[in-house]
Amino acid sequence: MSDLVSIDLTVNGRPRSLEVAAHHTLLDALRDDLGLTGTKECCLVGECGACTVSIDGRIVDSCLVLAVEADGCAVTTVEGLAAEGRLSRLQQAFLDYGAAQCGFCIPGQLMAAQDLLDRTPHPSVPEVQEGLAGNLCRCAGYEQISEAVLAAAEGTVR
Ligand code: FES
Ligand code: FES
Repeated sequence: MSDLVSIDLTVNGRPRSLEVAAHHTLLDALRDDLGLTGTKECCLVGECGACTVSIDGRIVDSCLVLAVEADGCAVTTVEGLAAEGRLSRLQQAFLDYGAAQCGFCIPGQLMAAQDLLDRTPHPSVPEVQEGLAGNLCRCAGYEQISEAVLAAAEGTVR
């Protein structure tokens, strides 16, 4: 007897069909079934933001979403930010401002920051801090991350 469930979803613009265990999370499906390891696995309880992805335009902690719940949805991961392999302005800003130290939190930070900029194209410093409040950085690179988001917003990426 198998407890596998068929799901169809769009990931970074590409239709994907998967057989997933009913208890597997979207994070499991992205990393283990689709090989999209940019999305990071860390706390698994919705506290660190390392697993942040977008579902139908809304960011979520993918460790808290069952893969079957994403059936029929459009999912964007950090791999989807670089159109045709070119870094987005936000990604370039992270690079230019030294926002990535060990880099582990950066995919989640990028997803949260992109969501913020989509909703608030010219955020204030407090709005950036609030927008990224759910994403922890163990390297404490918050200042550089905030600077990068502000630079991307203002088009002053070096
Ligand atoms: S791994 Fe999902 S919030 Fe930490
Ligand atoms: S850059 Fe290391 S955890 Fe954020």
